[in-house]
Amino acid sequence: MKVAVVCETLPDERRVALVPDAVPRLAKAGLTIGVETGAGDAAGFPDDAYRDAGAEVGTDVLDGAGVLLAVQPPAPEQVDRLAEGALVVSFLPAPRELHLIAAIRDSGRTALAMELIPRISRAQSMDALSSQALVAGYRCAIIAAERLPRFFPMSMTAAGNVPPAKVLVVGAGVAGLQAIATARRLGAVVKAYDVRTAAAEEVRSVGADFIDLDLPALDGAAGYAREMNEERARLQRERLTPHVAAADAVITTAAVPGRPAPVVVTREMVAAMRPGAVVVDLAAEQGGNVEGSQPGREVMIGNARVWGGRNVPSQMPGQASQLYATNLTNLLLLMTEDGSVRPDLDDEIVAGCCVVHAGEVRHEPTRDLLAAKEA
Ligand code: NAI
Repeated sequence: MKVAVVCETLPDERRVALVPDAVPRLAKAGLTIGVETGAGDAAGFPDDAYRDAGAEVGTDVLDGAGVLLAVQPPAPEQVDRLAEGALVVSFLPAPRELHLIAAIRDSGRTALAMELIPRISRAQSMDALSSQALVAGYRCAIIAAERLPRFFPMSMTAAGNVPPAKVLVVGAGVAGLQAIATARRLGAVVKAYDVRTAAAEEVRSVGADFIDLDLPALDGAAGYAREMNEERARLQRERLTPHVAAADAVITTAAVPGRPAPVVVTREMVAAMRPGAVVVDLAAEQGGNVEGSQPGREVMIGNARVWGGRNVPSQMPGQASQLYATNLTNLLLLMTEDGSVRPDLDDEIVAGCCVVHAGEVRHEPTRDLLAAKEA
């Protein structure tokens, strides 16, 4: 069966779904890999690297392919070129992609959404949300270190002693923990806060101090956080204020699935930071953890430079693509038998990430959204 890797169509998307290293593993399982000309260029993987790995490279690889691999949702015209009953695998955020999902449904093809891979141990190697959050968290710490006009590590020099930078991380999920670990490796002193009960131990395990705000935990379903009510949010911000003011750099990564990002740092809190301070808001695209942050831009609030994230994993396209390609490869191999990819909907992983199959929208929230749109 032919598996096609497409050129991404969204502006600013520099990742590619499959890297050359992944080709031999899939070929060994009997799959033929076709890569659209130039698909890996922006991520640092030239066409020749794919050819050397055993892939076919060309402009017609989509025609009649049984599987389409992408990072962002493909364009409907790309899907139209696939074989009947073909499988599309990419990130597929339903509210934004109802048109594409309806087209896939009506054409009888199947779509799997990488953000819906269940977060169970058996699926860890396919968990693209985690792999991309890892890249984003690393990048946030590097941005903070690069923008801060002073060292992260403590230095004892003939020209004087330099104390370590103070970094505060709010939101200690996958991205936050990676930001903490990276800032620690660079020598900063790091404090962190999160609303989940398990977070305190997780934060300590990567070398940061956990800030106890003496507020009830907000544990939600499946290991995620719950949304704060307004009073809880106000108290959290009030109690975080001195920690923000004391920090040289603040990195925010707080999120609640399906909700806009919680505002954890107000404009006033940023304005009280010292000159040269840096704020990195990974959640800027989801509404922002920091009041006034803007996705893809850097703005000044008081004396602080506030950097708003926008498709942050794509800013380290080589690394992000390599990890994503491993996630995709593991998912494809789970479904491959005798050189053919056949999604088994009795498998919890496949069922969990399947949005559309055989003319039916199987993912309930997406089905509801589509029904409302089509009513
Ligand atoms: P996420 O991206 O939804 O949220 C990021 C973090 O923000 C979370 O730790 C959350 O507790 C925190 N947060 C939410 N509201 C906040 C607020 N008001 N103030 C401060 N922090 C706030 O979550 P992510 O990073 O995707 O995963 C969160 C957790 O899910 C992980 O730490 C882990 O426990 C679990 N997980 C389990 C996996 C597995 O079992 N395979 C894989 C990945 C994650």
